[in-house]
Amino acid sequence: MPAPGSQFDRKTLFLRACRGQATDRAPVWIMRQAGRYLPEYRAVRAKHSFLEVCKTPSLAVEVSLQPFLALGMDAVIIFSDILVPAEAMGLPIHFGNGGPELPQKIRSRDDVDCLKDFDPERETRFLPDAIAQLCRALGPEVPVLGFAGAPWTLACYMVDGAGQSGFPGTKRMLHSQPAVLRELLERIARNTARYLQAQLAAGASAVQLFDTWAGELSREDYDAFALPALQLLIHELQAGDAPVIYYSKASNHLLDSAARSGATVLSVDWRVDMAELRATLLERTGHFWPVQGNVDPAALYAAEPAICAAVQAALAQTGARAHILNLGHGILPDIPVESARAFIQAGQMRVESVTTGGAAGPPVVAPISPGQD
Ligand code: CP3
Repeated sequence: MPAPGSQFDRKTLFLRACRGQATDRAPVWIMRQAGRYLPEYRAVRAKHSFLEVCKTPSLAVEVSLQPFLALGMDAVIIFSDILVPAEAMGLPIHFGNGGPELPQKIRSRDDVDCLKDFDPERETRFLPDAIAQLCRALGPEVPVLGFAGAPWTLACYMVDGAGQSGFPGTKRMLHSQPAVLRELLERIARNTARYLQAQLAAGASAVQLFDTWAGELSREDYDAFALPALQLLIHELQAGDAPVIYYSKASNHLLDSAARSGATVLSVDWRVDMAELRATLLERTGHFWPVQGNVDPAALYAAEPAICAAVQAALAQTGARAHILNLGHGILPDIPVESARAFIQAGQMRVESVTTGGAAGPPVVAPISPGQD
């Protein structure tokens, strides 16, 4: 069955966009699409803790499907969290109301040495099991996305113990014990490579690495710490044909470097002009980069016409070519479901003709005829 507004099924559409092949429109999904803005998610969470949902395949599948059933996006990300591997490496995690907490922080080489290398097929079996179940539920035409935190972002939580503005503990380690931080990043990279391999083996069509806190780093420190670990991870992963999407936030100054990570797609936030990014990267790398993004999550507070305009503005930056439409960061918990639907539907309008190049106007779109799905 073709995706709305496309001749391709959702998986083909998604994979073609990731690989830079021609599509008739941009595929669209939303980061953190399974979550508190959905009443059906809140109903599951009223009965089960967050980690219980992550670790019980039937519940993880149920909440992964909720946004797809409600909004019909073009890809379904498995419900989990970037901190799951931290726990598997031996650090207990708690999800309170103020966000995640890891009380056993990494502060020294001994702490790094005490971390476990885990076998994802055994110790986080619930995740490949959930992915396999989700793939069965969705059938062969809908792509399931696996994910993990990028080494730097996961290290930020392991060292600081919580989401802290500026991650001062991790920055302190970078400057006072650089070898310890490098060791930690390498351990995370090697474990994450196996963890993502297990997700691909279970049926994920692509994987995304979340580097939410990349923007905390200068270009120099990114190149010296975050990038080598990311390159190691992607190299060890050996994803083959499966796209690796690399998301980073507030990272305009780093994207040149990120383009050397080995990732297939760069996922960027709303501060980035995707036309400029592409032009720069084409010049510097000789490669036409597939991109994902980048509507400001706060734009979904606007009325429907403004949401559609924000979608068109994002698509105009890329001519909808090799572009996976998304937000520039996760959807906010108090966004009305109707606004999320407006975003998805605006993205799924068929692009009748697209002018490309720097001076491109907005793509001309035609509404999907009723009943076409
Ligand atoms: O995209 C999806 O729908 C898949 C699920 C997903 C979650 N977390 C579920 C979640 C994904 C891809 C993540 C990634 C994640 N987790 C990131 C990177 C992306 C980003 O948003 O920056 C980070 C930094 C985390 C760590 C994390 N987990 C934080 C900071 C928080 C608290 C903030 C918050 O939104 O509450 C979580 C908890 C969390 N992870 C929730 C969800 C749905 C909310 C928990 C709840 O149900 O109460």
